[in-house]
Amino acid sequence: MMYFDNSATSPIDEEVYEAMLPYLSEEYGNPSSKYYTKAVNAKEAVESARAKVAKLIGANPEEIVFTAGATESTNFIIKGYLDYRKYYGDGRNHVITSLVEHKATLNTCKYLNGEIYSNNDPTTNLFGKKKRVDRGFEANFVGVDSTGAVIIEEVEKSIKSNTAMISVIYVNNEVGTINDIKKIAGIAHKNNAAFHTDITQALGKMPIDVRDLECDYLSCSAHKIYGPKGIGIAYLKSDKYGIKPISAFIHGGEQEQGFRAGTLAVHDIVGFGKAADIALQNMQKEQKRLTEVDQYLVNALSMIDDIELTNPSSNRMNGIVSIIVNRDNFNNERYIKKVCDDVALSTGSACSAGDPSYVLDAMGLRDKVSRVVRITVNKYTTKKEIDDLVTLLKQA
Ligand SMILES: Cc1ncc(COP(=O)(O)O)c(C=O)c1O
Repeated sequence: MMYFDNSATSPIDEEVYEAMLPYLSEEYGNPSSKYYTKAVNAKEAVESARAKVAKLIGANPEEIVFTAGATESTNFIIKGYLDYRKYYGDGRNHVITSLVEHKATLNTCKYLNGEIYSNNDPTTNLFGKKKRVDRGFEANFVGVDSTGAVIIEEVEKSIKSNTAMISVIYVNNEVGTINDIKKIAGIAHKNNAAFHTDITQALGKMPIDVRDLECDYLSCSAHKIYGPKGIGIAYLKSDKYGIKPISAFIHGGEQEQGFRAGTLAVHDIVGFGKAADIALQNMQKEQKRLTEVDQYLVNALSMIDDIELTNPSSNRMNGIVSIIVNRDNFNNERYIKKVCDDVALSTGSACSAGDPSYVLDAMGLRDKVSRVVRITVNKYTTKKEIDDLVTLLKQA
């Protein structure tokens, strides 16, 4: 089966798998234990992986907190920072985000805004009544242009005297649009607010330097860069006084500087470290390859008259290609189901499966939502696979 759903998750790299194995067998020590060899080995493996992941984003190892993935990191950072600022800081309690965030950010901000208690039924309380609660925080959701890029002026206009944080995704997971996060970080800082970005779709695919991007916080997962699932990081910027104050997310032991308690998943952390190392070593080569594969795919698609890109601008991450199939009776859900034995495709975010895409809606593509198919490639994708996919799409 051809696999074109790499924005949902990527295959695990063989070297990553090999690196993890010892920590699932003989090296089972708890890194928080002391003195004996298995504990020391586990601790060293965790710290070595931390250094590798930090290097991939230009951070210091002390600035890295391991979590269960980008969703958890985002929850930790936004809720933790807002909580700190409101209850222990200067009382600011407002967060600005965009309409095209991954649900990890979107629903975290909706939760703070009192709009949601459950992901499945956000507007209804346990007794079936629509209810909005006051959690003591506010959120604003800014719009995007037709390419899916967050409108900077809208961010500026949304700033209030109580704005504590701006959170904007770096690369959109449905349409690949790249946001000017450095500029948005600048707006946050000018207004004494912190800046968080979700870099899950950018990690390992483009050089990332947290200092250059001027972000205070970021979130990502290992499983989009050929690493294991269930492991991610929260990057927390430090200055000469250490990490800036933020409320802990999981209370318990002292692991991860007390921000995220619980025994560390050593095998997953080691896998993330290895995946980060490979990504960094091969960055230039893979970027070149990804550009070529993307151009080959886009070029082949452009030969099909009734197919267009949802984001035809050059401001798009290579390898994330979202198309509209302008054909009578074409329905994306039906189509990806029909071809699922031959090819793995998606209609959009795996985390929003079942809902019409709010990202496309925000881009003004509401009428075309049921015609959109997302094609996302990986470092193993071949031109032959692309040719076969294009042949299949011609017959859709
Ligand atoms: C942009 C983005 N953010 C966050 C996530 C959530 O990652 P995870 O499910 O690993 O927590 C994903 C993955 O689906 C993503 O693409």
